[in-house]
Formats: sequence, C-alpha cells, structure tokens
Amino acid sequence: MSRSILVTGGAGYVGSHTVVQLLLGRFKVVVIDIPNSPLEIVLKRVAKLAGEFGKNLAFYQMDLRDKPALEKLFACTSFDAVIHTAGLKAVRESVKNPLLYYNNNVIGTINLLEVMVSHGCKKLVFSSSATVYGWPKEVPCTEDFPLCAANPYARTKLFMEEVCRDIYSSDSEWKIIILRYFNPVGAHPSGSIGENPSGTPNNLVPFIQQVALGRRPELTVFGSDYSTKDRTGVRDYIHVVDLANGHLAALRKLFDSNIGCEVYNLGSGKGTSVLELVSAFEKACGKKIPLLMAGRRPGDAEIVYASTDKAERELNWKAEYGIEEMCRDQWNWASKNPFGYGSPDHSTSQKTSSS
Ligand code: UD1
Repeated sequence: MSRSILVTGGAGYVGSHTVVQLLLGRFKVVVIDIPNSPLEIVLKRVAKLAGEFGKNLAFYQMDLRDKPALEKLFACTSFDAVIHTAGLKAVRESVKNPLLYYNNNVIGTINLLEVMVSHGCKKLVFSSSATVYGWPKEVPCTEDFPLCAANPYARTKLFMEEVCRDIYSSDSEWKIIILRYFNPVGAHPSGSIGENPSGTPNNLVPFIQQVALGRRPELTVFGSDYSTKDRTGVRDYIHVVDLANGHLAALRKLFDSNIGCEVYNLGSGKGTSVLELVSAFEKACGKKIPLLMAGRRPGDAEIVYASTDKAERELNWKAEYGIEEMCRDQWNWASKNPFGYGSPDHSTSQKTSSS
C-alpha cells in the first residue's frame, strides 16, 4: 500500500516540484493551498508530469488558519506524514506587515501541528530556511551554527523550528525533519512548472529573468565592495528539483529510522557570486543582462553557503545540478511562461513555499 502524504503549500514553487517527485516515488499525495493560489492550473500540470501516477494526487483549497476545515480533512483521510511548505516568504513585506507573517506562518503552523496531534499523525518535514543563520561568521554553515533572525519572516521560521524541537521534547513519538533551504532556483526541466512571483521580484534569479524577458531594463547589483571573489554577494543556489528530491530523502528517513527531531541543510555546498550567476544566465538565454551597480541592500549577508555533509551522510542526498542547469531550466520555464501561471493583467499570489 502506498503511503499518503499531505503537502501544505503544494501549489507553491518548492511544493509543486516536491509533489511531482513524490508522485513519481509512488506516494499518494493530498495538496492543500490557499484559495487564491493558481492551484488548479499548477496541479493539472503536476499531475501530467507524473504520468500514470498523476491519479494519486488530490487537492483542496484551504487556509491553514481555517482549523475546522483542516480537522475535517484529517477526519476523512489518514496521513502517514506531512510536508509543510506553506508560508509567506517576502522579507521586505514581513518588515512592513509583521502581523501578517505571524498570523500566516505561526498560527497556520500551530493549527496544523494541533490537528496532526489530535489525529495521531506525528511525522513532519518542515520547510525552514538558511535565513536562520543570519549573518554567519564563517562558511560553510553547519547545522549547529548559532541561530539569529534578522526580520519577522526569519523569526517565523526560527520560532517554528523551536516549536518543533519543543514538541519532540514533550513527546518522543514525533519524528520531525527540519530542512533549511538555501537559495532555490531553476524549474522543472519540462518548463511547465516554475516560480510564479507577483509584482517586483525580491530574489535575484526571478529579477534577472524579468530583465531577460524585457520586462525590466536592468538588474541592480546590490553591493560591489564585499570581500568576495568579484566583490559581489555570494550565495548557495540549489536547483529546485534537487531540493524536491531532498524532501523524498527526508521522508525516507522519517519512515525508516528513529530520527527524533533533526535539522538538515539543503544546498549545493558551493558559493556563487551575483556576477557569476548573471554570466551563467546570459549564456542560458543568449542575451546580455544590463547591470546597474549600487550600494549594499540593508540586511544582506556577504557570503552564505551550506555545509551539506550531514545531509549527504544521513539522508544519502546530494545536489546533482549546477548553476548552468539551474539557469537553463529557469530560462526554459520563463520563455514558455513569461507571466508565470497568470496573464499579464492578473498577477498571482506571492505566497510560495519558503526558501
Ligand atoms: C533572501 C532573503 C532570505 C530568503 C532568501 C531566499 C533578504 C535580506 N533575505 O536571501 O531571507 O531566505 O532570499 O528566498 O531578502 N541581489 C542583487 N540584486 C537583486 C536581488 C538580489 O544584487 O535585485 C543579490 C543580493 O544582494 C544577494 C544575492 O543577490 O547577494 C541573492 O539575493 P536573494 O535572491 O534576494 O537571496 P538572499 O539574499 O540570499
């Protein structure tokens, strides 16, 4: 009998790619996502990518803050585990509207955990973020580094990590894996699912993509005075399909071991600068990306990349794709879907899974 997995935020960027891999891995999947996400379009494409296994996918529009609806879902379906990717993730928005972030990311997660407890489902994969390392004093970041949240979004991730640790301490029947995502980029190689940000993108690659598509005149490079290889900021970019596979590795660990509550970094383990990424994207799209060199973005760290030793050792997982494949697949998605899942006039939700 195949296992049944609930994926919250399953129509989001990381969620949708994870659902494809889960279906191909023979899991039954139930997705919930917020009512205004392009849920149906995304999940139709997800089911198609999973071929004959697409029939094992069900989905519901549901907000995690609607606890009665969540109760109802758990009352009629028995889940073997939950992958919780749902959450708001725009740092600037979280600074402007912290209550929105605490309401969504904290209350939503607490509701989910309470309903899981009341239905005896105690296996969880939680999407956290490298943002909990703040401004790391050294690299690569290992999972035992001190944690520090620099904005409300980061605090929601850090708080929920602590909640996970506390509930495990109170009840050792829980099995919880916390995944700290580094910088997810790229898209499914088919080009039919990818990231769908609304408005002005906050993150580097979606912004470069819009410049390449002619929707913005240039990329502003935030900071060219860092003590890095070419003076621009360095990050750990990871292909979203590698990240999705990391969730499968985590699930296997939940089912096959007495894991307790553990944290794993999901990154490539390599540092790439803004200029290196721009140059890889230029190669992928065959266009020049005009640059505007500017000052540092407030709050930005200089250099962040992951140690992936623990995930390699204990989850038997390692990222396979490099920057070239990330840019190739990002551009393939972008050129096939220049306005994401929406039309130019209908911007879609900013809500995605965390990163
Ligand atoms: C940001 C968030 C972080 C979140 C992560 C992934 C901030 C301060 N941090 O991190 O909490 O977990 O996204 O979603 O927002 N850059 C430019 N020009 C741009 C955009 C970015 O030069 O228009 C540079 C940045 O300065 C940085 C690099 O590109 O050096 C990557 O930026 P970004 O994609 O925003 O990711 P993070 O800063 O790692």
